[in-house]
Amino acid sequence: MDIRHASGAPLDAGAELTVVAVCGDPKKDASFKALDRATGGLLGRAAVQERFAGKPGQMIHVHAQLDGKPARIAAVGAGERSALKLGQLRDLAAHAAHLGRNAGVTSVCFAPPTLAPRQLDRALQYVAEGAALGLYRFDKYRGSDGRKPNTVKELVICTGGKPARGKPPRASKTALDRARIIAEAVSRARDYVNEPAAVMTPTRLGEIARELAKGNPSLSVKVLGPKECDKLGMGMFLAVGRGSDEEPRLIHMTYTPKRKPRRKIALVGKGVTFDSGGYSIKPSQAMEDMKIDMSGAAAVVSAIAAIAELGCPHEVHAIAACCENLVSGRAYKLGDVLTAMDGTTVEINNTDAEGRLTLGDAITYARTKAGVDEVLDFATLTGACVVALGPYIAGVMSNDEALVARWMQAAEVAGEEMWRLPLQERLRDQLKSPIADMRNTGERYGGAITAGLFLKHFAKDTPWVHVDLAGPASVSSDHGATPKGGTGFGVASIVEYVTG
Ligand code: BES
Ligand code: MN
Ligand code: ZN
Repeated sequence: MDIRHASGAPLDAGAELTVVAVCGDPKKDASFKALDRATGGLLGRAAVQERFAGKPGQMIHVHAQLDGKPARIAAVGAGERSALKLGQLRDLAAHAAHLGRNAGVTSVCFAPPTLAPRQLDRALQYVAEGAALGLYRFDKYRGSDGRKPNTVKELVICTGGKPARGKPPRASKTALDRARIIAEAVSRARDYVNEPAAVMTPTRLGEIARELAKGNPSLSVKVLGPKECDKLGMGMFLAVGRGSDEEPRLIHMTYTPKRKPRRKIALVGKGVTFDSGGYSIKPSQAMEDMKIDMSGAAAVVSAIAAIAELGCPHEVHAIAACCENLVSGRAYKLGDVLTAMDGTTVEINNTDAEGRLTLGDAITYARTKAGVDEVLDFATLTGACVVALGPYIAGVMSNDEALVARWMQAAEVAGEEMWRLPLQERLRDQLKSPIADMRNTGERYGGAITAGLFLKHFAKDTPWVHVDLAGPASVSSDHGATPKGGTGFGVASIVEYVTG
């Protein structure tokens, strides 16, 4: 889809469908009034009849004749202007794109609510991202009946004001380029998550990392197999993957900036390509969606490619510990004592608390082999985090106030919802083992936090942020710019954090 920015009146864009976002009372909205005039009062009458009041979720749609040509015009409610957050523009733009796709048109003009000039670039970025991401589909395994082709080839984002002739301003081009790169990265991550586990194996993820780096000279890749991980002493990571016939892979991608790096940042992702729970096996319903357990890996692998496209002053490492948690005669067992890469011994009291084992070694690898100044990890780590915050908000834990403040700011700007949870040291008692330095699982209450405390042990003095995205990594129904399935959650915040 080609996306461009235009000023002037929405109808002048000449799109087959024009969608205007209205905040509150349409009679007070300048662009609505202009469209109403152009349609000889048709739109206003529809608004009265349909009781359209610019509330979120409301929509009216009319067919008009303008200069003898048929035109479709829709108004979508955006709620009160004072309550509108810039990030919501993504869902509004997705709504406009969906209207275009459902109508089967090739061109759509979308007019967002009136914006302050300083908000313009961000707003353009969000609108472009939202439209592209709203049209995302994972339908490669469906027959033609199940596929809804996307007809929309052109989106014009019309921000009103005086009509400008010729080229759009340089700033809006940068915003739209950024949107395209981010939307592509989020879509890639969604693809990786949505692929069945039989396809998206650790080996396949390793190949994908190589393919992503091929086109970009600032990216390099190392993919470590079981022998190399064994040499490094990654006893926790290897134990989790041992029950599977699929070999584990530790993916290490590096972005090197042209000049001397300002900071060195590691992005660590949980890459359990399928989580059966192991011998602490999950009931069928809880296992059904466990191909999504590599969402953290998908996010960091895809995001670093976007970072390389955009460029940034930091050295960035994406490290994904990829393996499959299955049962077999070789699988790790309850009561086993594992030796981590940093020498810590860990007694296993639940093989379904596998993510922290893979990540613990990956964090040690990031600290000691990549030599970074800070580590941020992304993991579908605990159901307890979903219980605490619901399915759409990620839990954030950290050992460093300055780092976590920067991270939360980036997430806020990127429009991804995250909430800080406390790493209460008192809960560490739950991780005591009678025969080893630690055990891997605490009690039911505080489950997201004890998982965080387990990881904190491996971060040691390195500033570290842990993002538990077990909830928002996938959604069970379509919502605005996030269709059902893998969401690509985390990518937008990572890109914002590193390049913003
Ligand atoms: N991958 C799961 C967590 C998860 C749950 C992700 C729901 C996405 C949706 C993780 O490996 C797991 O099984 N966690 C256990 C931890 C428990 C054994 C301490 C859980 O949440 O039940
Ligand atoms: Mn598990
Ligand atoms: Zn898991």
